[in-house]
Amino acid sequence: MKKIKSDLPVFYETAHAELASALEMLAACKKTNSPKQALGYFMHAKDEYMHAKCFFKMLSVRGKRVSIKTARDFRFTAPSLITKGYISSKGFLIDTMKLKDFIAFVYTNELLAKSSFENILALVGRRTEEGREISGIMIDELRHHGMAKKHFLNHYPALQPLQLMIYRMRETVNNKGRKIYDANLKFLDKLLTPLYKAIAYLAGTIARKLNLNEFKRKDKNLMNISSNSIL
Ligand SMILES: [Fe+2]
Ligand SMILES: [Fe+2]
Repeated sequence: MKKIKSDLPVFYETAHAELASALEMLAACKKTNSPKQALGYFMHAKDEYMHAKCFFKMLSVRGKRVSIKTARDFRFTAPSLITKGYISSKGFLIDTMKLKDFIAFVYTNELLAKSSFENILALVGRRTEEGREISGIMIDELRHHGMAKKHFLNHYPALQPLQLMIYRMRETVNNKGRKIYDANLKFLDKLLTPLYKAIAYLAGTIARKLNLNEFKRKDKNLMNISSNSIL
């Protein structure tokens, strides 16, 4: 039970990341004028949707084995893609980045995704049904990485592997930053929840002590009520 509880965030976060990738790819598909590129983005989006579906399924299997209270914390809601930073509130990457940076972003993140799946694979066991699914996903990610690399080197031959390496380092730092941001949010949530509850309790106590008869308007001449009255 304890292990399932500690595994839940892994599947929860990964499902978010995969779904966000699918939406980013779909946005890119919509924006390009090249039918060939559109097909590439579309197929990529389709893969990412399938990955998200797999991770949501793995999350759901585990969610059913913990208490309702715990499972509730790992319920998916679409706005969390933005609040967790998987999709920027400023828009999709294809709208906010130069095409060159976007392709480099895909190139580096696909590789990072593949390596983070190594850890999940160790978690579920390589020889299990889930392990086989994750191995399949890792093959997809490597294919995505390869496609982005080919595109990048074809279109920007002057920017050779050194630049891609710099992109990769930058994204590794960004990914770490996102994890720290998420950890901070959770910490603040723990810190502020008791405060919110205390304020709500106080407001409730005050409301209970108020004389609500003042609110009754039946058979009263409203013109006789003081203009300073807030009621
Ligand atoms: Fe993926
Ligand atoms: Fe991918």
